[in-house]
Amino acid sequence: MAKEPVRVLVTGAAGQIGYALVPMIARGVMLGADQPVILHMLDIPPAAEALNGVKMELVDAAFPLLKGVVATTDVVEACTGVNIAVMVGGFPRKEGMERKDVMSKNVSIYKSQASALEQHAAPNCKVLVVANPANTNALILKEFAPSIPAKNITCLTRLDHNRALGQISEKLNVQVSDVKNVIIWGNHSSTQYPDVNHATVKTPSGEKPVRELVKDDAWLNGEFITIVQQRGAAIIKARKLSSALSAASAACDHIRDWVLGTSEGTWVSMGVYSDGSYNAPAGVIYSFPVTCRNGEWTIVQGLAIDELSRKKLDLTGAELTEEKELAYSCLS
Ligand code: NAD
Ligand code: LMR
Repeated sequence: MAKEPVRVLVTGAAGQIGYALVPMIARGVMLGADQPVILHMLDIPPAAEALNGVKMELVDAAFPLLKGVVATTDVVEACTGVNIAVMVGGFPRKEGMERKDVMSKNVSIYKSQASALEQHAAPNCKVLVVANPANTNALILKEFAPSIPAKNITCLTRLDHNRALGQISEKLNVQVSDVKNVIIWGNHSSTQYPDVNHATVKTPSGEKPVRELVKDDAWLNGEFITIVQQRGAAIIKARKLSSALSAASAACDHIRDWVLGTSEGTWVSMGVYSDGSYNAPAGVIYSFPVTCRNGEWTIVQGLAIDELSRKKLDLTGAELTEEKELAYSCLS
């Protein structure tokens, strides 16, 4: 029997991530090839015509799984009945701007959209915040939507996770699908800590630690970390626009694994409401290694944290605490 359609909200749908993301959702990349979807697309009035153009293209693409499209500038209409909300709308970082510069522009958007989601989304709606500063926008959304369970509000660090997998695969000249269990700790910013201490590669003679295969701790502890931390800025420098296809793809990966589950023995990175695991600050949205089952994420516990890692976990945690304070000062 055909499944009931799932309603997926994409905010900022007329923007460049939106343009890459909505066809992926309509093709089943996010929720599976047997899952019909109804797309809800929100943008602001100046982008209404462009949004309508995206709707026209979705119709023209004749996606078999796409059972309806709501394209609107009305936040209540956009949020009504949605099961999944991918929050991309906001002001993007431009070349030369620090993420903090975009903070004040974005946190007020997330405060108001929190209320709309809380009042109008389907019960148990899962929320993924993509727009920067992603962790802190997600935190503001959580704080101003107190009836949505905190576990349902997450932010995207899967792009950073995928970037780390990509760098290891290039360094070792192995398939990216054979690399797993990197970790992005903390903030989706240049303080994030891409950690390979538990990462492995599938080889003909079994799974081997990344460190054993790379045999270059100086690179893993130095250049590798910097490349992943600075990749967003490098894309902006190259494209004069922030990453879009990789961000859209990572958003699909994030929701797919959350809803459908992670593979046995594999974890992924998600920004989730911190309970203080690994002595990360509690009460911020912090990226942890997680496994997912039955639509719920669980932080992977018990991983050894060495001295270098400890410092880096603390540094990115301190930045999130500072961003939280700054966000509240922007709202007051
Ligand atoms: P974009 O400027 O192309 O698109 C943003 C869209 O949001 C625009 O269409 C704009 O009109 C719309 N918008 C603005 N205010 C809105 C509001 N209040 N409600 C609904 N829509 C609104 O930007 P983009 O390149 O698509 O990037 C979107 C966001 O994603 C940016 O904040 C960017 O920094 C962030 N980003 C995050 C990651 C990540 O990994 N977390 C990766 C890439 C980009
Ligand atoms: C990215 O990681 O590509 C984006 O978050 C761009 C940015 O603002 O850093």
